[in-house]
Order: sequence, then C-alpha cells, then structure tokens
Amino acid sequence: MDRKELIKKFIDFFKSKGHREIQNSSLIPENDPTVLFTTAGMHPLVPYLLGQKHPQGKLLVNVQKCVRTDDIDEVGDETHHTFFEMMGDWSLGDYFKEGAITNSFEFLTKILKIPKEKISVTCFEGDKDAPRDDESAEIWKKLSINKIKFLPKKDNWWGPAGKTGPCGPDTEMFVNNVEIWNDVFMQYNKTEEGKFSPLAQKNVDTGMGVERTLAILNKLDDNYLTDCFLPIINSIEKESDKTYGKNEKDTKAMRIIADHIKASIFILGDGIVPGNKEQGYILRRLIRRAIRYAKDLGEKFSVEEVAKPVFEIYSDYEHLKKNKNKILDELKREEIKFLETLEKGMNIFEKLTKGKKEIDCKDAFLLYQSYGFPVEMIEEECKKRKIKFSIEKFEKECKVHQELSRTATAGKFKSGLADESLQTTKLHTASHLLLAALRIVLKDKEIIQKGSNITPERLRLDFNFPRKLTDEEIKKTEDLVNKQIQKSCEVIRQEMPIKEAKEKGARGSFDSKYGENVSVYTVEDFSKEICAGPHVKNTCELGHFKILKEESSSSGVRRIKAVVE
Ligand code: SER
Repeated sequence: MDRKELIKKFIDFFKSKGHREIQNSSLIPENDPTVLFTTAGMHPLVPYLLGQKHPQGKLLVNVQKCVRTDDIDEVGDETHHTFFEMMGDWSLGDYFKEGAITNSFEFLTKILKIPKEKISVTCFEGDKDAPRDDESAEIWKKLSINKIKFLPKKDNWWGPAGKTGPCGPDTEMFVNNVEIWNDVFMQYNKTEEGKFSPLAQKNVDTGMGVERTLAILNKLDDNYLTDCFLPIINSIEKESDKTYGKNEKDTKAMRIIADHIKASIFILGDGIVPGNKEQGYILRRLIRRAIRYAKDLGEKFSVEEVAKPVFEIYSDYEHLKKNKNKILDELKREEIKFLETLEKGMNIFEKLTKGKKEIDCKDAFLLYQSYGFPVEMIEEECKKRKIKFSIEKFEKECKVHQELSRTATAGKFKSGLADESLQTTKLHTASHLLLAALRIVLKDKEIIQKGSNITPERLRLDFNFPRKLTDEEIKKTEDLVNKQIQKSCEVIRQEMPIKEAKEKGARGSFDSKYGENVSVYTVEDFSKEICAGPHVKNTCELGHFKILKEESSSSGVRRIKAVVE
C-alpha cells in the first residue's frame, strides 16, 4: 500500500462513520505563541477540545502535517523524523471510548486487513490523577483482543502538548509489537498548578503516523524505504554515487539529508524563511545540517536535485506545487549563504589557531556556534595542521551553553499550549477592532490581516499597507478603537456558510482553510471578521487600548504591536 492509498482509506473510513474532513493546517500554529510548530493533529483543535463549538461539527478527520524538533539529533535511524504526517480522527464530546475503540479495531482488521492475532494493546494503569482504565480493556476484550497490558502515565497518557491544556489516558495499539495507533481520551485539562481538572466534554483524539504505518503494512523495518522517502533516497544515491544501506555512516547521512530537506520544504511552503529566530532558525539549522551531511557524501551534491522528488511524493499538497520555484530558490540561497559562512569560518579558524599546538575549546565553540562550522570539520582541519583538538573539552563547553539555552527555551513554554487566558481573549478582540480602525483611518478597505501572533503580554498584527503610518494616524487608530471599547458594544458570534459570510461583508481570507461553515464575529457595524476566536462578550472588557509600535514587517506589510491595559 502506498501513502496516498493509506490516507484515502483512513479518511474514507471515518467519513463513512459520519466524520467530516477538516483542513490540513499550517505548520505554524495560529495565535499560539508557546510552540514553534504544529506537533500533532489535535494541536489546531485545542480550543474545540476545551469546549468551543467547531463549525464542522463534533466528528472530524484529517491528515495533518507535523514537525517535531525535540529529537532532531535522533534523526538518522530507521524511525525518527522531524517532519511527518499524522492521520487523526476526533470526537468532540460525541462518542467516547466504546466508539473510538470499535472504530480503531474495524479500521485495523477490516480495512487494513491486519489479522487480530497480531494486535496487542496497552491501557492506562491509573494513578492519583485518574483511575485505571478498565473500561477500555473491557471493550478490547469484547472485540477478542486479549493481549492487554496496563502501563503508567509515562506510557499511556497523552498531552498536554505544552505545559497546560487538554490531555488524558490513552490506549495504544501495536502490530507485532510496533506501535501503530493511539486513541487518547481527552477528558482532563492540566492547569498551570499541575492539577488535572475534568473537561466539560469528553473527547476522543487519535493519531496514526503515516510513515510508520506504511512501514508496518509493507513489512519494512525502515521508514525510509516507504514511498514517503524512497524517491528522495534514490536521488541522494544518484547525487553521491553511494548506495543506501551499504554502510552505517553513509546510510545515516542519507536519512538525515532526506528528512531535513523534506521538513525544510514544508516549512518554507508555510511561509517561513531561514533566519536567526524561532521557526526561521530551526529552518536554517535543518537546511545547513542537511548540506553538511551532503558534503560528507560528495562534493558535487546538489540540494536542488534532492529536493525535487519531495514535490512529487507530496503532489497532493497544492501549496507546495504552487510555490515550488520560490521554495527551491530559497533553498539555493541558503545553501550559498552557508557556503560563504563556511569560508568565513575557515578564515577565523586560521586566525584562531595560528602558531598554536592546541585549539582552545572556547574558540572551537565559537566556530561551531557563531560560524556554523561543523565539529567534524574542526576536527579534520586540526588534524591536517597537527593541532590538538579535545572533543571532550569541546563537549563540556557545549553542555554549559546548552544548559543556558535550555533555560531560555523553557521560558518560551512557560504559559503552556493554547493559552486561553482572559488576557489573550481580550487581545483577540482588540485585533479585530484594530483592523477595522485601520481600514477607516487609512481609508483603505482592502486592508486584511496578513499575520497575527498573540501572547498574554501583547498582540502583534501584520497587515497590508505600503508605507509607514504617521504619528497622527496611529493616534487616530488608537482613539477609534478606544471609542468602540467605551461604547460597550456586544461581540456577537454567528455560524454560517462561508458564502453567506462573504455576502454579509465579513472579512478574513476566503481560502479553504476555514471549511464550509465559519464563525463570524461582529461588533455593531464596525467590525465583521471570520475567525476561530476566542473573543470577549463585550468590548468594555478590554479597558484601554494602546499601540506600542508600528514598523515594517516585510515589503508591503506593516506590523503593529499593541496592548490592552
Ligand atoms: N495527540 C496524540 C498523538 O500525537 C493522538 O493524536 O499521538
């Protein structure tokens, strides 16, 4: 079975059970400042798992592109990836354990035709936060699955994805001892204080990895041999004149290149460019790491040639097809920049080591960290010049810096996934008022949101406009928003088909990402936006609105940071 067939079977099966297919969301979480990438199918659904009504209904299904960078250093074996696709289905307060497990069983045995003798499962053994999940085990037994193990939280509990949010016990399914699927029963909300409070609705969230499932179904013990990867591996073989699987070192390099280039293409496809911060930094790291390993395989290596099969494997992603040239150009540009950086690093290396018998570990770290100079290259160049390089001392130095950066990163996750606090809710509504005010003050009806990022501290709104705003315009915009706040206007939410929303003059981008039915938030005749929310009930809750900064975001796009106090 190949990738497209598997995905189709999954979606069709759940559609036949009354589920609606929802969009495959962007890799960049919308309005979620606490994580850099979409890490699971449930991630874009957090507000709905917490109780908000989903415009597509209670039963959903999709395949979701995901990026997980936590174990980027693990990539290189048969099963680890930074980019992967997850098939998932959800019940938002509709059926619960019985429905979920019966569906999973039917899909595995009837559609994928896996003999039930090969299936084993695990269930949650219970602890102080939640009881032992005998209910799931009984349902499995009724379906004549008797290989059941009870395991603790570290194995049979999923979520929250960040520090807080929806989570719950899960039951995992294995085929010949390899995990194939995970049914999570999201019925708890983990709070800031680390408590598990029951959610208003009991949800089902399941996730099945496309790559791993294909490997299992095709009896492969290496995900890179499935059709999600093989064409990329083949083009790497061609570029390097090396054979996959022949020796460990080259095979590992090929997997890293294939994985990282694929992930980079998808991240570029969602509008990120290489940079020194956040998603842009991860992207840069992925591309450069791939190039480094490519260099090890052969000098004539072309990243572009390796990238091309990705577009064929994932031809069902329209946005990749549309942006193919742009993506390839960006990859090429980063490759050139990296090669220049390496050259510069080489000069620094010469200066730092001139007349020395040993390279200082701090200097080695500087080369590695600031000039992106690969450790293996430091090692090689030292060897050539008979300069001593202590890898132990270097690693010690790295550890010191890792600790520092880990502490910094931990801060990023402080507020947990999908911070639904009152402050962010207020800022969501403030963004709508701000957009509407900008249209009036700048006399430009075509102004739309080009990007938004909300933290509990501030809102950040990007919008299309060709020039800097004057101080007077900023003041007028602020005043207009504050006027709406003082008027105490009700914020009304209505659900309607997208066509009707458009006819009624609602704003927002009208692409497929919203699905057929949308939520429209209206503030008198001042603002009408298509939006997933959440919003306050009345504008008076916002207090006072203040613009902190107006600046350029990119060509033709301005950025405003603002607060409510
Ligand atoms: N959220 C769960 C996972 O990522 C199930 O979808 O495995």
